[in-house]
Amino acid sequence: MILPTVDEVRALHERHAPSHEALDLVFTHCQIISDIAGQLGKRTDLTLDTDLVRVGALLHDIGVYRLYDQAGRLDHGNYIRHGVLGHEILRQEGFPERLCRFCSCHTGVGLTRHDVRTQGLAIPEADYLAETVEEQLVMYADKFHSKTTPPTFLTADACAAHLKPFGAAKVHAFDLLRARFGEPDLTSVTARYGHTQT
Ligand SMILES: [Fe+2]
Repeated sequence: MILPTVDEVRALHERHAPSHEALDLVFTHCQIISDIAGQLGKRTDLTLDTDLVRVGALLHDIGVYRLYDQAGRLDHGNYIRHGVLGHEILRQEGFPERLCRFCSCHTGVGLTRHDVRTQGLAIPEADYLAETVEEQLVMYADKFHSKTTPPTFLTADACAAHLKPFGAAKVHAFDLLRARFGEPDLTSVTARYGHTQT
């Protein structure tokens, strides 16, 4: 599989972003997740494609752009849809399924069709689960930074606490990822991007 370059991914973001503010928020977040996943990927003994991790991380939230309205407001109520919207964007752009999946399979610690049904989520009823080690690493790294106002970094304990309302099974799934990939050192990314930590 020929992967797009970082410049090509950035150009794609620029093309789909409805504003400079949205681009700054979403693309910066994607760069941060790429940095965190890269850091964790370097430390793991697991065999993984580091280029695929970088590109997957840089692309994973591209669907968020479709949730902005004309006034530049983000539709938080439909935020759950950003994964499938990103998958759709990448498919329309001609990207292979393996890349599209980084968008649709990174939400929380994975969504099952049971989650979709019981939580009444506004996405097609299906499993959205990170399967490859690269997908799992991007999904896990994504939990450590949030596009809140202002954007913040989260410790592993804070990530686990955020998952608690979704049930013990989600916290357990996070704990398994934590044991598998370890915890990122957020000092360098906090310094580089200047966002605070909770
Ligand atoms: Fe994300």
